Amino acid sequence: MCWQSFPQTETFRRQLILSLKSEIEMIKSFQIEATAAALLIGLTGLAQAAGDDAATFEIAPGVYSYTSGNHYHSMFVVTDDGVAAFETVNSKHSIAMLEAIRAVTDQPVKFALQTHNHWDHASGGGVMQEAGAKTVMHKLAAEWLEANPGDADLVRTDPLFVQRCTHETVRLQPSSPVAMRWALEDVELKSGLSIPEGAKVVIDLESVNRDQSIFGADAADFNPHRETPDGVPAYGLSFGSGMHACIGMDLAAGLLFHDDSTMDDHIFGLVPEAVQALFDHDPVPDPDDPARMDDSTTRPYFGHYPVLLRS
Ligand code: HEM
Repeated sequence: MCWQSFPQTETFRRQLILSLKSEIEMIKSFQIEATAAALLIGLTGLAQAAGDDAATFEIAPGVYSYTSGNHYHSMFVVTDDGVAAFETVNSKHSIAMLEAIRAVTDQPVKFALQTHNHWDHASGGGVMQEAGAKTVMHKLAAEWLEANPGDADLVRTDPLFVQRCTHETVRLQPSSPVAMRWALEDVELKSGLSIPEGAKVVIDLESVNRDQSIFGADAADFNPHRETPDGVPAYGLSFGSGMHACIGMDLAAGLLFHDDSTMDDHIFGLVPEAVQALFDHDPVPDPDDPARMDDSTTRPYFGHYPVLLRS
């Protein structure tokens, strides 16, 4: 019997996954050291260095404006006593800004100044601290951040949030940038476009998964709190669709959380469970061995991301 003749109902998929649950348990006992780097490489949405639109401008002698290609702008000032960076944004942005700083000076980054208390402006502070910088912010902003730990806390305490982070990463970074299909008969799409029998259709997954009319104005950003319209999975088309959709989807990324799901019986998926196991050990980037991008691909993946496990 070929796979395609199996009934792919949710009940069937749930039973299949439960029978594979022991595999998921196994991942928890993996040597965490061995998996840590690989998992963080996968989570490029959580930490990913500069894209093609990154830019550094010297706006005055020793004073630089910097963007990693998102809509955030930072600056850094190079002095004989070290570098001061302003506006750390998020980990992805700060890792890229550190690369930009290293491209213009060998001076250490001594200070990272936070402009205000929003996590989307402040969460890159940890990267700067690991690089040796002291973070500086208004006393009230520091108090607010401590009282409202936000996503940094959620990755340790909320497995559903970790699952959403995984789905968001898979949406932004599909394993292949395109999917292909061949039309077995003439097809007319809802848009009125006609596809003749035999035509090859190439689906640009990166564009589809960042379609603002579906995923919102911030479709190109990593936002695990995103709500998607009914019928649109948070991971977009990254697992394909139809008869040949990925059979490992539920195993890798878990099931969607429904109204009748409970935290006890929910299938979170192998990747979220492994990532959660990693966060349970309180990882931080190794300050003596900085992350490096994978230079064998143009995709924004880490090739080397050592972490220290603190518990
Ligand atoms: C995050 C992890 C994974 C991603 C992003 C992924 C992605 C994909 C994609 C995009 C396809 C093509 C779907 C299509 O053409 O419509 C696919 C097919 C497939 N995947 Fe995965 N996959 C993942 C994990 C897995 C795992 C864990 C397994 C096995 C346990 C698996 C087994 C398969 C198989 C057998 C197919 C071919 C299905 C068919 O042609 O009928 N995948 N996967």
